[in-house]
Amino acid sequence: MPGKGREFGVNVDPNQDNQDKNHFQDGDLALLLDRKSRRYLITLAPEQVFHSHLGRLAHDGLIGQSVGGWYRTDRGHTLLAVRPTLGDFVRQMPRGPQIIYAKDLGNIITFADIFPGATVVESGLGSGALTAALLRAVGDTGRVITYEIDESVTPRAMQNIRRIIPNPANLTVTIGDIYQGIAERPVDRVVLDVPEPWQAVSGVAEALVMGGIMLSFLPTILQVHQLVGQLQADGRFQLIETVETLLRPWHVTERSVRPAHRMVAHSGFLTTAVRCQPRIIGTASNPAL
Ligand SMILES: C[S@@+](CC[C@H](N)C(=O)[O-])C[C@H]1O[C@@H](n2cnc3c(N)ncnc32)[C@H](O)[C@@H]1O
Repeated sequence: MPGKGREFGVNVDPNQDNQDKNHFQDGDLALLLDRKSRRYLITLAPEQVFHSHLGRLAHDGLIGQSVGGWYRTDRGHTLLAVRPTLGDFVRQMPRGPQIIYAKDLGNIITFADIFPGATVVESGLGSGALTAALLRAVGDTGRVITYEIDESVTPRAMQNIRRIIPNPANLTVTIGDIYQGIAERPVDRVVLDVPEPWQAVSGVAEALVMGGIMLSFLPTILQVHQLVGQLQADGRFQLIETVETLLRPWHVTERSVRPAHRMVAHSGFLTTAVRCQPRIIGTASNPAL
């Protein structure tokens, strides 16, 4: 990531020694868990105090101390302190528009084949969860350009992103309508989380490099149907595929091993398509291969 990476999941500066990776520093995110596994996400700052019904815990009691350690509140309760993963952060972060869950974030990065150094156009910014995941995947040699129609979402989204990536110098936020087209050329990948992505298909085809991938996250199958119809009619996309991810957590203890009672049963569908040349339609005297 650009700048000096704040300790957060795997987003750490490789030049930092193990001592730093193993210990909390001023400005780090810390995830506190109580004995019932309730989670509290805090950003460590000198002289700040974490308050809960279990008592108070001074941030100064964590700064310089071990990640993965147990810390006692002034009421005698112990809290476990670890570094949050990106998925932990997304679950807890302030949000307006519906965010993308960790189970989908991972598959978006894999199925859209987001790689270090890629130029990625995304829409919309929303609360910034997907943007942060894309920034981590493209690394400091890549770029993310996000089109967002509603300027009012940007302060909160940027605040969320900066808590993960303090200096997102390779992120450009363009206030505009993705349905009107994409200015950047050529683009390696396009990732859409907007309600009517079929309106963006032509602009995506013009911006994507040959072999480039577009991925769309959609909550309902009727939207998927309309998008796939548009991708087929456009003719410049092949390998059009749709998947859904079901992630079921399990409860595992000595006496009981069973699926958890609750799960996120549905979030959305991922549709991918690869930018290709339009298919050559053969005739009887000139059959297409
Ligand atoms: C569901 S939210 C995106 C959430 C985001 N992926 C996240 O992880 O936080 C959809 C966003 O797309 C924006 N949007 C909707 N239509 C758009 C358009 N035509 N062009 C650009 N942005 C659009 C909305 O304003 C909203 O912020």
